[in-house]
Amino acid sequence: MKTFLKMLFSCVLSTSLLVVLLSADSTAAQTAQVFRLDGGNSTYAFGVNEHGELQPLYWGGRLGAHDSIPPAHSLPEMASFDSPYTTTPQEYAGWGAGLFTEPALKVTFADGNRDLVLHFVHATQGNPQAVEVQLKDISREIYVTLRYSLDSESGILARSADIENREKQPVVIEQAAAAQWTLPPARYTLSYLTGRWAGEWTLNQEPILGGARVIESRRGTTGHQANPWFAISRDDSQATVGPFAAGEEHGEVWFGALAWSGSWRITVEHTQLDAVRVTGGFNPFDFGYKLKPAEHLETPIFYGGYSNHGLGGASRLMHRFELAHILPQAPDPKPRPVIYNSWEATEFRVDEAGQIAIAEKAASIGVDRFVMDDGWFGQRKDDHAGLGDWYVNPEKFPRGLKPLIDKVHSLGMDFGLWVEPEMINPNSDLYRKHPDWVLNFPGRPRSESRNQLVLNLARPDVRDYVEGFLDKLLTENDIAFLKWDYNRNWSEPGWDQVPFDEQKRVYIEFIRNLYSILADLRKKHPKIEIESCSGGGGRVDLGILRYTDEVWPSDNTDPFDRLSMQDGFTYAYTPQIMMAWVTDSPHWLNNKRMTSLTYRMLSSMQGSLGIGANLNNWTAEDFATAKRLIAAYHSAQRTIVHGDLYRLISPRDGSEFSATQTVSAEKNQSAVFAFANATQEGRDFPLLQLQGLDPNAEYKLSWIEGKARPGTPESASGAWWMRHGLQLDLRGDFQAAAFRLDRQH
Ligand code: GLA
Repeated sequence: MKTFLKMLFSCVLSTSLLVVLLSADSTAAQTAQVFRLDGGNSTYAFGVNEHGELQPLYWGGRLGAHDSIPPAHSLPEMASFDSPYTTTPQEYAGWGAGLFTEPALKVTFADGNRDLVLHFVHATQGNPQAVEVQLKDISREIYVTLRYSLDSESGILARSADIENREKQPVVIEQAAAAQWTLPPARYTLSYLTGRWAGEWTLNQEPILGGARVIESRRGTTGHQANPWFAISRDDSQATVGPFAAGEEHGEVWFGALAWSGSWRITVEHTQLDAVRVTGGFNPFDFGYKLKPAEHLETPIFYGGYSNHGLGGASRLMHRFELAHILPQAPDPKPRPVIYNSWEATEFRVDEAGQIAIAEKAASIGVDRFVMDDGWFGQRKDDHAGLGDWYVNPEKFPRGLKPLIDKVHSLGMDFGLWVEPEMINPNSDLYRKHPDWVLNFPGRPRSESRNQLVLNLARPDVRDYVEGFLDKLLTENDIAFLKWDYNRNWSEPGWDQVPFDEQKRVYIEFIRNLYSILADLRKKHPKIEIESCSGGGGRVDLGILRYTDEVWPSDNTDPFDRLSMQDGFTYAYTPQIMMAWVTDSPHWLNNKRMTSLTYRMLSSMQGSLGIGANLNNWTAEDFATAKRLIAAYHSAQRTIVHGDLYRLISPRDGSEFSATQTVSAEKNQSAVFAFANATQEGRDFPLLQLQGLDPNAEYKLSWIEGKARPGTPESASGAWWMRHGLQLDLRGDFQAAAFRLDRQH
């Protein structure tokens, strides 16, 4: 029986059997209710089966323009235990009719009915790359509009759902996914990112076996602990690298990321019938969204893509897509200014004279932007007071911020400021005035973290207060940049202003208001740039990235730790947004690990560079080194942060070595960074065979730092650098080298 079913799944889904006769035309066609979207190197197709259910038909490498997709047919029941409704994969399954796999939508009606079966109503094809499909319950007035929009360059598909209640009574939505993805039946390896404070961006890889792997946040926010991104690599002998078969540069990979900054969940399911499905959207834990008659609930967008160049190819598609379509300055965001940030140097001890003294030193090494961190406002002497009171502290800045900002400008830099708008210390004027403004359940304790509570941004008055003080701050001061922090997760998520059965809407209204404040501020202050920080990398996702220009990946700035964090980070996100500061050595974490300034600089130069060290303690030699390396960074920055990234040697799993390479879009320039972290037995750095160059072009080598073995040519073809490769002279503890290749005309 099992074999029979496997065969049926293969018939419907496998890439090899799909290509059958069909419609003459086009990148997108609807034939016998088959919908097909093509873009980049991928094709996505789904159709309506004989019962009226919307069924996935194909997701994978691009099919021929004239190839046809066989229409959808539901699958039979599996003995008497799994109905066709559960054996047949669906694009967006309602929970009803005996569905035992993960539903996309689960609803309770006013009369207690909890059965929801969604059937196709009609579809609208906006353009060849976009289609909207309306589904409806078989008897009740619940409508779901599924939106599909495929990026013609990357082939990345944006999917979301809009749920509408046309019943006369409210319904409660208990679970709402943005999308469900179905993969062809095969053996797979799942990659996903987990972490903790000061330890974000760990790449996990494991075989997908029976059951479900849930990655999620129940914290009200994206979270350090897991990131809403996945990649699924098809296991095959060619792609085998490491313990599992997740190939870095070879093999098929399906990947996705959810654009939502609240509680989220992605479930990767390997059903008992060997189907692999991914369902992602709002986290159903403590959900319960009351949808009144005529109301809509719009889900976040779940992006999904396909690459046949391994995880490296998948991340390069993501990077390009983020630059071209997600970031506020898309399609061509300007490379980030090199910043100086005062946090690790001065912590809360900021004042005008002290910040000016550091700003002068920062300007002398070529820094573009000076950012004053926490401590400048309210009664903020430490983390016990002040959040909520966004006036300039008169003892620290008796003349306001203007003299400091003017000085920073006169030094040739622009000015940025730290804020944490959604938080409040109980020791603040704001809390004394509005104790009801925080997330809380009346009569219950209010759990503090870092001595602070979370403002309930879902409340319109709180939302307006937050937007109001930020607008005033930006109107009254010449501020180019906000570092927008968020230093705790939710507890007691009550919202007693609204009726009890509407309080759980807080999970959505909070995030919508956050996005709308960011959007309004950007509209009113078009030059403002914003960083998303949450005690490090606790709020990094494609939702917040529509409104923020960069992120703070981690409070951990140890340059060795950062190598593996940056490695993990780049699987999902572009180096453009990956702020990387050079801080002091010995470092405060890891028992005062010592590293050279050169090693620290090169570690950070793989992302968007910043300096966060206490410049008051630097020697003349340190200033000279930093100045030289910042200049080298500036001259190759566009290649480093916008180029195609190749993770040549991974720092994961205790590797002694690591190396990254980026290649500009036109293949004119390439930058390589290499690290030897604790070599043993005099072992040499592995041969570096580069990637992504034009084999027929001539490239000249120039060193940013370090050297190669004698005999390495100063100039050679792309073929030489990629096939013969070069041997670095790099051994020892925490050693680093970097070089550039420039195409010769
Ligand atoms: C968080 C941030 C740090 C710093 C402090 C200030 O931890 O991640 O970079 O801004 O807050 O309190």
